[in-house]
Amino acid sequence: MADFDLIVIGAGPGGYVCAIHAAQLGLKVACVEGRETLGGTCLNVGCIPSKALLNATHHLHEAHENFAKMGLMGDAPTVDWEKMQAYKQDVVNGNTKGIEFLFKKNKVTWLKGWGSIPEAGKVKIGDEVHSAKNIVIATGSEAASLPGVEVDEEVIVTSTGALSLGKIPKSVVVIGAGVIGLEMGSVYQRLGAEVTVVEYLDAITPGMDAEIAKNFQKILTKQGFKFVLGAAVQKAEKKDGGASVTYSLKKDDSEHSIDADIVLVATGRKPFTDGLGLADLGVEMEKRGQVKIDDHWATSVKGIYAIGDAVVGPMLAHKAEDEGMAVAEVIAGKHGHVNYGVIPGVIYTAPEVANVGKTEEQLKEAGVEYKVGKFPFMGNARAKAVFQAEGFVKILADKKTDRVLGCHIIGPGAGDLIHEICVAMEFGASAQDVALTCHAHPTYSEAVREAALACGDGAIHA
Ligand code: NAI
Repeated sequence: MADFDLIVIGAGPGGYVCAIHAAQLGLKVACVEGRETLGGTCLNVGCIPSKALLNATHHLHEAHENFAKMGLMGDAPTVDWEKMQAYKQDVVNGNTKGIEFLFKKNKVTWLKGWGSIPEAGKVKIGDEVHSAKNIVIATGSEAASLPGVEVDEEVIVTSTGALSLGKIPKSVVVIGAGVIGLEMGSVYQRLGAEVTVVEYLDAITPGMDAEIAKNFQKILTKQGFKFVLGAAVQKAEKKDGGASVTYSLKKDDSEHSIDADIVLVATGRKPFTDGLGLADLGVEMEKRGQVKIDDHWATSVKGIYAIGDAVVGPMLAHKAEDEGMAVAEVIAGKHGHVNYGVIPGVIYTAPEVANVGKTEEQLKEAGVEYKVGKFPFMGNARAKAVFQAEGFVKILADKKTDRVLGCHIIGPGAGDLIHEICVAMEFGASAQDVALTCHAHPTYSEAVREAALACGDGAIHA
């Protein structure tokens, strides 16, 4: 008899959710994790600590920019960087301890150490070998390297180093205008650093609805961000206690360099499967390094499954969680399902940016006839009351059937607002269904309703 019905390798959002759900379904489950704490990149050095720093610095920004406007007088707070770091660490500790508690509650065994798979049905950790009927690889991803750039996590950093800088830098060059670059760039911009983002493409946030991306860039520029677009970074080197970044502009091949205290390399992540022994096992891989899976997250080797950043698809914690739940169902003999057409994306800047479903560009390319309903937060009383009236909601609906095909929001609470549309899309709702739903006044969510109204006879407050 096997020691476990399931061993999950990796305790990030994909792995720990998979382990807990499989236990809920009655399986005997273990989860292998080599870090000192559970929660993977997301809880330890990703989503959660970055949100703590974004929260603290957002309040700082509000104190400087908006408090006096509301009659809140007095000196704006100054920053105690050590205390802010301690707050961030408390938030991380609370969350990682929470997963430990959930493991105990659900009787999931934490196997501490780095695991490998010597053969199907076996997981090795140090000298110990455990047997399992099924194995789920949930080993996540790591920062992709960039030729000519050597990361030391002190001066030239990835997101991990950027979360724990020794002091607040005066200047930061961010390589890559993706999610990490703009979120961490925002943190340091609000702390007073001059932030320059160097991006290879001609627009920021690749893959995002172009109208939103353009608007987002404008808003960030107004906040103080500098952007160098169409620029391929050639190298970054340490220099005089800081670093120098050399890039060439695509339009004329001219070479330029820019110095800064800190360089953040945020040019994407790659699957992390080192040390698992997958090549020896004969587990098939995709060309871009992900573990190859079928529609049920099964790899080419029987009894081994894979989910999350280690497989194809958006590298998002919630996508990994959904896959973790679904593969647990499959292993328990049920029907796991993930609707990849309705996976929201959120950038936690201020204002937040969120999206779900198709972009206008994707609909055009697919030849789908669509209509657009837009509503600016300038017409939303609540947003105006709290000085957050920048941005808009944009709903894309099928021209004939009115079915909601996508939604893109830039504005206050966008990351929460988007879920109304996720639910609507899961239910195959029309824009009119959203428009006919009563929305409490005064809330930001009224802007979503107004955008839905704009897909029909028109918004009221625009
Ligand atoms: P990303 O893929 O979002 O953006 C990387 C950017 O770097 C792209 O715009 C790319 O064109 C640019 N780039 C690549 N090579 C370059 C070069 N040589 N010179 C200049 N620019 C170059 O990657 P990012 O921001 O590192 O994030 C990694 C992953 O983590 C993403 O999949 C992201 O979705 C996920 N993530 C999600 C968060 C969220 O949901 N809020 C937060 C943080 C990360």
